[in-house]
Amino acid sequence: MSPPYLLPLNNTVELPEKTRAALDSIEQQFDLPTKKLEEIVEQMLWEFGKGLSEQPTKETKDTFMPMIPTYLQHIPSGKETGTFLALDLGGTNLRVCEVTLLGDSKWTMRQQKYKVSQALKMGEVAALFDYIANSVDQFLTEIGTTGDPNEKLYLGFTFSFPVAQTALAKGTLINWTKGFECKNAVGKDVAQLLQDALDRKHIHVKCSALVNDTAGTLMAAAYERGDCLCGGIFGTGTNGAYVEDVAKITKESKTKEELEQAKKDGLDKMVVNTEWGAFDNERVVMPFTIFDSRVDRISINPRKQAFEKMISGMYLGEVTRNVVLHLVDAQVIFKGFSSKSLNAHYGLDTAIMSALEAFSLPNSDSAADPIASIRKCITKDLGIADELVSDADCVAVARVSEIVGTRGCRLSACALAATIKQTGNDKSDKEVKFGLDGSLVEFYPRFDQRVKDALRELLGEDVVKRVVIDLAKDGSGVGAALCAQAAMAMEAKAKH
Ligand code: BGC
Repeated sequence: MSPPYLLPLNNTVELPEKTRAALDSIEQQFDLPTKKLEEIVEQMLWEFGKGLSEQPTKETKDTFMPMIPTYLQHIPSGKETGTFLALDLGGTNLRVCEVTLLGDSKWTMRQQKYKVSQALKMGEVAALFDYIANSVDQFLTEIGTTGDPNEKLYLGFTFSFPVAQTALAKGTLINWTKGFECKNAVGKDVAQLLQDALDRKHIHVKCSALVNDTAGTLMAAAYERGDCLCGGIFGTGTNGAYVEDVAKITKESKTKEELEQAKKDGLDKMVVNTEWGAFDNERVVMPFTIFDSRVDRISINPRKQAFEKMISGMYLGEVTRNVVLHLVDAQVIFKGFSSKSLNAHYGLDTAIMSALEAFSLPNSDSAADPIASIRKCITKDLGIADELVSDADCVAVARVSEIVGTRGCRLSACALAATIKQTGNDKSDKEVKFGLDGSLVEFYPRFDQRVKDALRELLGEDVVKRVVIDLAKDGSGVGAALCAQAAMAMEAKAKH
């Protein structure tokens, strides 16, 4: 049984038999014992191999992770310099940033956030890119840039969706995720869409790199702290990019001579964007509960992003909401009554899970009276009338949150373990560094502890001792600038 993290709460409140039995059943459905974790890692390694060796076809494209080569071959040393623009699209907001790399592993940033409305997320893609170009224009007018006014500004575009990349600044959208569904975008080159929109507005900016947020996070972590194996996002969506041997990306079909030359030129490694959110779309190994199926069925991308839907911020709250509703319908909690928020799709934000479980953190404000803080959450955030909520209900809801969240963390650990094994780092004696970013990493109580516990079960203490998990905050902005810098350096090299 997966370890409970909030157990102390159970000892303070007597749970009625019905509540206990209902929770036991939920616990069983969401449990991921070590053996299951091992099977998941094995299957993930199989998908890694498949994705590295086979170009997906129309028929096979949803059956294994895409494992996209990013054409990023220069991992930053920390000495890079220059001023670049960075655009970040992929979560809740659009960000325009001006990043100055100072060359001593440090950087400064000026940024502005722009809201991406639901209408833009679902409308014509041209409207979305016009909006992006307008935002760049507005940024340059209102905030300006310290770059050389006579030179074209280089821009790195962090576009956090699956893109089939064919060069550093070229790639076509495979499919939308995370609630975006713009029309006429799939199959189009997104860097070109951006450049066209910028050109239409006569903005003197060149989109020189197209970057996934995970690759950006990896680049930023390497710039700030040296060697980094993998950049990962556990936020609205989830994904990871890691440094792979070019020789293992066999779908790129390089000859032996080309591989030898690459080695001589120091180009024998490349960042691969795994798109692990799409792991197990075929439902081979993960135990899907009826709650997962409900979430999937009403999502805008059914049968896609299976792993993401059990892990990331966009869906964890929704899975929890479905379980809580089940307890309501079974007359276990809230005297069988629900609320408008609880009935609404996505009505339980993942941030509420963080609030429900916050008391388990040392020095938490809510630690003194956990039941009171959970009750506040249930009545204020979920809109359940106070008189309907017993202390046992509070324990039940927090426990459901913990069960769903712990499963998410344990699955997250599988992705890290698979990356460690894929790169042979389970057998080396080197430090293995992950740069992670996203709301779960930053705000979900005991995310790192739960991940590390599962990693320990999978790989043993000796390996876990060497694993460093750094919070790589703001990787996507700085990472995009680093990719724009890499593109500029490559262009300069090609000229000489
Ligand atoms: C996207 C990835 C992205 C991840 C994290 C997923 O939905 O497919 O490209 O890296 O979210 O933002």
